[in-house]
Amino acid sequence: DWNPGSIIEEQVARIREQIGGDEVICGLSGGVDSAVAAALVQRAVGEQLTCVFVDHGLLRKDERRQVEEDFVAATGVRLVTVDAREQFLGHLEGVTDPEEKRKIIGREFIRVFESTAARLVEESRTDDIPGEIKFLVQGTLYPDVVESGGGTGTANIKSHHNVGGLPEDMKFELVEPLRALFKDEVRAVGRELGVPEVIVSRQPFPGPGLGIRIIGAVNEERLAILREADAIAREELTAAGLDSEIWQCPVVLLADVRSVGVQGDGRTYGHPIVLRPVSSEDAMTADWSRIPYDVLAKISNRITNEVEEVNRVVLDVTSKPPGTIEWE
Ligand code: XMP
Repeated sequence: DWNPGSIIEEQVARIREQIGGDEVICGLSGGVDSAVAAALVQRAVGEQLTCVFVDHGLLRKDERRQVEEDFVAATGVRLVTVDAREQFLGHLEGVTDPEEKRKIIGREFIRVFESTAARLVEESRTDDIPGEIKFLVQGTLYPDVVESGGGTGTANIKSHHNVGGLPEDMKFELVEPLRALFKDEVRAVGRELGVPEVIVSRQPFPGPGLGIRIIGAVNEERLAILREADAIAREELTAAGLDSEIWQCPVVLLADVRSVGVQGDGRTYGHPIVLRPVSSEDAMTADWSRIPYDVLAKISNRITNEVEEVNRVVLDVTSKPPGTIEWE
């Protein structure tokens, strides 16, 4: 039967067989999955691994710092950070269709990994590194595969950025040691590998980031609004001790919707923010979390007071199915 130790042993052997003596890069998102995948590959091939953190401009507050500090401190892994904000936001300009956003983000991730791999090879010409880096590690989980239509007989619900969102001309060979696992199993493997608890117990956050939490076109201004609202919601949920009770709480900006409000003596005409707290075992199904009213009230008051462009906060009370956890 299942135990993290045997999964690690099995995957380490498979990774060594696949990669041999070659170099490999791993995209780190700040989430649990990519961190555990990286830790497994590091266990298997050590110094042959370089991690790449892509700042695509769709990150939450403080995310970049957390990866740069927490993960590197815990694992000692070699980390390269790439500022690709202009590249991603440029390609996303004016795009409103959810699948199109996902495809663009998935594609640009790969383009960044390709250019970074080429640069790393260039920089180390004098060493024994072979002429290319052909392996890319991804923290793809079983539910990502199923919901992107890669499983057997399942519908294509949405293209997870590291499955259905990959460009067809990609040349990397993928290393995906978590492909058969569910999130709770990934967390158990991570703990066994010594990945710090702050990372292992972190709530899921999608690779496409805030890009799929803005309903409408993505731009800097809208991202700034959502980032503030999201930071407030997270702060209050944490302060209320609810982090381990809920699976995650997407905060969504309805960027093309406006409603009338009042502030002081004046009329406002602002955007709604949606709170989407969910409880789940594996993200395949979910229920909306019964957050105490006083916590919701605090979040709502703070967001409408502190984020100027937002004049209304609404709660999503839909289970999955029929809703999905993310709005796009
Ligand atoms: P949905 O919206 O499909 O989300 O009910 C299920 C879980 O997957 C996360 N999610 C993603 N994670 N890349 C990821 O790494 C993605 O493209 C992606 N899309 C959704 C979502 O946050 C939830 O935990």
